[in-house]
Amino acid sequence: MGDGSLPQTPIVTGLSHLFEHRDQPEKPGQGCWAAQSEKSGQDCWAARQLLKVLALIFLLTFPANLMAAATKVTITDKDRAEAADIFESRCVTCHGEDGRGDGPAASNLKPGPIDFHSLKWQKSVDDASIARAIIYGGSSVGVSAEMAPNPDLENEPGVVAALVGQVRGFGK
Ligand code: HEC
Repeated sequence: MGDGSLPQTPIVTGLSHLFEHRDQPEKPGQGCWAAQSEKSGQDCWAARQLLKVLALIFLLTFPANLMAAATKVTITDKDRAEAADIFESRCVTCHGEDGRGDGPAASNLKPGPIDFHSLKWQKSVDDASIARAIIYGGSSVGVSAEMAPNPDLENEPGVVAALVGQVRGFGK
């Protein structure tokens, strides 16, 4: 210590122990599970290799895990209420009160809005593409451009997620 190397936090000592241990002679009663026989010494070595691989996987996936946690959208009650209002005021004219694709404006559309109750359709799309269709319109996901975009929702991830939840709800 005091040699200018990394600060000795528990994680750093733990990790360096993991990586340096192999170069130290195994003393009886030391090392993992006090390996005494040749056989358990090998098991011990294997366990250490496994730990190294796991530590490496953890370190490599750590940023991705962080990103996933950061992009996970929280839907508040306010988002849900707003989404319900938006569905009533903007979506029902085409998609119908019950999401069956039979709203008052639907008969003018070709193709008409799909039936959100169709499990086949529900399985064919993921949440991200539903969200995309809602924000950027049908043409952004390769369906009819009659499906109107809602650019004002671009910075409202909670409301969009709640709308996606509402669309998913018809399939349950
Ligand atoms: C002007 C009529 C119209 C309005 C308004 C409208 N849609 Fe649509 N929507 C459609 C049509 C038509 C389709 C089907 C397009 C196709 O299958 O080619 C569609 C498709 C969709 C899809 C399926 C996209 C896919 O990938 O299959 C979703 C989800 C959707 N609409 C949600 C909404 C929501 C939520 C609203 C309200 C914010 C809304 N739509 C407003 C006409 C409309």
